[in-house]
Amino acid sequence: MRLDVVTIFPEYLAPLNVSLVGKAAARGRLDVHVHDLREWTYDRHNTVDDTPYGGGPGMVMKTEPWGDCLDDALAAGYEAGAHGPVMVVPTPSGRPFTQELAVELSEKPWLIFAPARYEGIDRRVMDEYATRIPVYEVSIGDYVLAGGEAAVLVITEAVARLLPGVLGNAESHRDDSFAPGEMANLLEGPVYTKPPEWRGRGIPEVLLSGHHGKIARWRRDQAFARTAQHRPDLIERTEAAAFDKKDRETLSILGWQPTPDGRFWRRPEAVEE
Ligand code: ADE
Repeated sequence: MRLDVVTIFPEYLAPLNVSLVGKAAARGRLDVHVHDLREWTYDRHNTVDDTPYGGGPGMVMKTEPWGDCLDDALAAGYEAGAHGPVMVVPTPSGRPFTQELAVELSEKPWLIFAPARYEGIDRRVMDEYATRIPVYEVSIGDYVLAGGEAAVLVITEAVARLLPGVLGNAESHRDDSFAPGEMANLLEGPVYTKPPEWRGRGIPEVLLSGHHGKIARWRRDQAFARTAQHRPDLIERTEAAAFDKKDRETLSILGWQPTPDGRFWRRPEAVEE
C-alpha cells in the first residue's frame, strides 16, 4: 500500500517510522511519502491560509498549495506505478471512522491523507479531487483536535495492522472489538498472561481449565458484560437473532429485555452508574 501525507508539520508524522506501522514500512508493506505543504507556496512567508469568505473566526487553508501539492503527489505515485488512489481528509465533520471503514481502507492500494490545520481546507479542494478520485472525509471521534495529523496516525495504525503479513498472528484480528463475525458489536473482555498470581491476584479459573468451549463461553459472557456497561448502544443496535440462549440469559440478568422489533432494550432504571 502506498501512503502519501500532505501536511504543514511533516515532523508530526515521525511515528509512522515506529512500531507496527514502521515495521510494515521497513518490510515493504507500506510505502510512505510525507510532503511538506509549504514547499508548494510561492510567497516569502510560505502562506498556506487566509481569512474566511463571509467572515468568522480562524483561517482557512488555501486552494493553490493544496492543489499543486496533491497534483504532484498523484503524478509521482502514478509514475512509480501506484494506482487506485483514495483521498482521506480527516475532519470532525466527516463520517465516523469505524473498524468497518478501517477494513475498507486496508483494501485500497493507495491512500492520500490531507490533514488540515486551522478551520479546515477550502471546500473547492475536496470538490475538485472528488471529480477524479474517491474522497473520504473521516472523523475519528466527537471532539475537535488542533489538526488532522493525529487522526492520520490513528487511521494509519488501524489500517496498517490489517494489511496481510503485518501482524504476526493473522488470527489476532478475529476477536478484535468491532470485528465482523461472531463477536461483532461486542467489546473485547479482559485478558491475562503469566504469572498466574500477582500481588495476591489470581486469574479466572476457567482460563486454566484447558476446556475450549467453556473458555469461549466465558469470553463471550465477559464481552457482553463489558459491552452492556460501556456501550449499551452496540447491544441496542444488534438484532436479537445474533444472540444465543446463554447470551439472552446474560442480557436478562443485566436488565435487558427483548423488544417486539427483534432487538434488546434495557429499562432505564437498570442502568447502573
Ligand atoms: N481534525 C480535528 N478534529 C478531528 C477529528 N475529530 N477527527 C478527524 N480529524 C480531525
